Amino acid sequence: MFVQREITVPMTSWLADWTNLLLRWTHFIAGIAWIGSSFYFIWLDRALAAPAAPRAGVEGDLWMVHSGGFYQVEKRRPGPGEVPAVLHWFKWEAMFTWITGISLLVLVYYLSGAYLLDPSVSRISRSTAIALGLGLLVVGWLVYDGLWSSRLATRPPPRLATTISLILLAGVSYALCQLLSGRAAFMHIGSLLGTIMVANVWMRILPAQREMLAATRGGRPADFTLGEHAKQRSVHNSYMTFPLLFIMLSNHYPATYAGPRNWLVLLFLFIAGAAVRHAMIGRGASTRWALVPAALALAGAMFLSAPKRAATAQTRATADTVPSFAAVRSVVSQRCQPCHSQYQSDRTFGPAPGGVTFDTPESIVRFAERIRVRAVETKTMPLANKTGMTDQERELLARWIVAGAPLQ
Ligand code: HEC
Repeated sequence: MFVQREITVPMTSWLADWTNLLLRWTHFIAGIAWIGSSFYFIWLDRALAAPAAPRAGVEGDLWMVHSGGFYQVEKRRPGPGEVPAVLHWFKWEAMFTWITGISLLVLVYYLSGAYLLDPSVSRISRSTAIALGLGLLVVGWLVYDGLWSSRLATRPPPRLATTISLILLAGVSYALCQLLSGRAAFMHIGSLLGTIMVANVWMRILPAQREMLAATRGGRPADFTLGEHAKQRSVHNSYMTFPLLFIMLSNHYPATYAGPRNWLVLLFLFIAGAAVRHAMIGRGASTRWALVPAALALAGAMFLSAPKRAATAQTRATADTVPSFAAVRSVVSQRCQPCHSQYQSDRTFGPAPGGVTFDTPESIVRFAERIRVRAVETKTMPLANKTGMTDQERELLARWIVAGAPLQ
């Protein structure tokens, strides 16, 4: 039974929470700066027009007005010796986003393990899961980079390389969803995409730019085909952006990560995000067609994550036997209150995880809808079923909620 205690928050969880907050805040800011600047340059490339009076080395120019100032930008192919000493690079946004992201992965998923594993999914150990997660980031990059540096990808159009990449992504999503908790599986796919994106910037795009720069500074003509290869990686990054942003949000949406077909939900949302990117910033009006597959993929993801109808119907059928509130409260106090209470006995997650406590009858009633989503439909609570909730208890809660969550 649940025992009341003094409210004391252990130092470690207070510090962990602040570390988490500061990392997440920085991750967010760096990510916005990164995505913002890359969207800006994608837009620039589309908006630049050949100058009315051709000038040597100028591919395009445009005028802009922003916050009270007028700006003129030129895109150039600089000749030998033409690049000035001061040159602005855009590279630290990507690096900071990655460093803070990986730190969060370690803090949230590896240090405690509660979010990492789900005993109803698999029984692998925490160290195996961590090795798998980190290994995935390294091997994933090597495979991706090998594929896209190979002859399959350098001769356009690289349809085969694209198909292989998508099949690999589906395979990895499927495998991870059989081994880690759904939430952790999603976040690892996100980390993989983020790692590939950052490595594209630092290991493929920047070196190509440096080589072109060294040539012009050394008084030699630059090899601009290097820039075109770098551009391919940059285009990949832009396709990965929207799916990755969804994954960053996914932990708030248990319906997406918790079901048995979560890997397919993820894949559909990946396709939807990438297709919206195609329609938005692909060249020419002809890319609008991509909104159709985007809508279909989104509908597919919504359909696959819908609660099972059979289960709901069955609950309705037995709803005439409404459990007493005392029975409901006893389940909640045993299975939920160890964490969701001001007087918690399990302090791993700090006070009131997710902002929710069940200390009063009213609070249990108030959160009835979320209890249904988390404990009945998606079974994502109790976290990793740490308190050993049974299916009968879930069913009892379901019957109570279907009957309108009465207080007696
Ligand atoms: C081992 C600790 C633990 C136990 C036990 C636990 N939870 Fe949670 N709960 C958490 C954590 C951590 C979060 C925040 C992360 C999240 O939302 O996944 C959370 C968040 C929540 C939220 C708020 C987020 C939302 O989706 O609305 C609800 C509601 C919730 N839990 C319900 C329950 C219910 C119902 C039970 C019992 C059946 C339960 N929890 C048992 C740890 C726990």
